[in-house]
Amino acid sequence: MDSLHKLLFTSLLLLAAAVDDTLADAMVTGTVFCDQCKDGQRSLFDYPLYGVKVAVACADGNGQVTMWKEETTNWFGNYAMRFDGSPDLSGCYAQVSGSGQGSTGCGTSAGPGRGLRLMFKMFDMEIYTVDSLLSQPAQPMAFCPRSTNPQPGPVAPPRPPTVKLPPMPPMPFLEASACSYQNWTMPEYKCYWKLVGPDTKVAVAFGVIAARRYGTDMTLWEGLRGRGDLYMTLLREGITALLNSYNSLQFAYHTLGVIEHMNWALIGSPRQALLVALRFKRANSGIGNVRCNFTPCK
Ligand SMILES: *[C@@H]1O[C@H](CO)[C@@H](O)[C@H](O)[C@H]1NC(C)=O
Repeated sequence: MDSLHKLLFTSLLLLAAAVDDTLADAMVTGTVFCDQCKDGQRSLFDYPLYGVKVAVACADGNGQVTMWKEETTNWFGNYAMRFDGSPDLSGCYAQVSGSGQGSTGCGTSAGPGRGLRLMFKMFDMEIYTVDSLLSQPAQPMAFCPRSTNPQPGPVAPPRPPTVKLPPMPPMPFLEASACSYQNWTMPEYKCYWKLVGPDTKVAVAFGVIAARRYGTDMTLWEGLRGRGDLYMTLLREGITALLNSYNSLQFAYHTLGVIEHMNWALIGSPRQALLVALRFKRANSGIGNVRCNFTPCK
């Protein structure tokens, strides 16, 4: 057990002790880290983040949200939520849902949501844990090793060491870039999918309001291929904007901005949805002066 796990375990025991064991409860705990180097994973430089909002959301098979809870992280970056009546939370997920005051400088974008894992059952209490959630600053810190930035994501094709790589700009993330949904669905640009993958669920990437409209099964890949209907167009352009926000610091929207606008569109009238879809589309097209910086992946 490393010290973090020990700390987590101790806090779980304290939580367990604090709960009246005659009550049936489910508890969800986890930690949010500041991903200082923007490498999409927890690494040496990352620290627990205070004052960040985390939401846990659950939906049934029809995409109807059955539970939703939001909590703010404490000084240790931990959050804990209690659900009465030992509901089954295995199909739920947690995600960073907002940057609080505590996250100064580290709340520009949020990593993808994570599923809940049942850690143990004790008396009538279930304890679920969540893998570390990440929140990111606008730019990687100056001290971050360049080689880790950006990290090839899990969807990047394996790179045989004998193949000579084309020279890459030192920090493509800092370049302005806006790519269309067609660009994002081309196989030769697959390595640009980083924090989220084609199989990431729409509900995980966008949260509970999107889950209500699009269900919990639809993937980002499926969403990118949507057309015809207004709300499918909104989703397609929203996913594209989200991917662009992860890919370029200078994209017209930052990640949380994309999610906020998406929510606003989904809550409001069809006219509001159309407006947001058109704005996303315009941003994704580069508004006449920004190009797509993709070069074919090797
Ligand atoms: C991206 O897609 C647009 C059309 O949507 C196309 O004009 C442009 O050449 C593509 N860029 C790259 C780098 O493939």
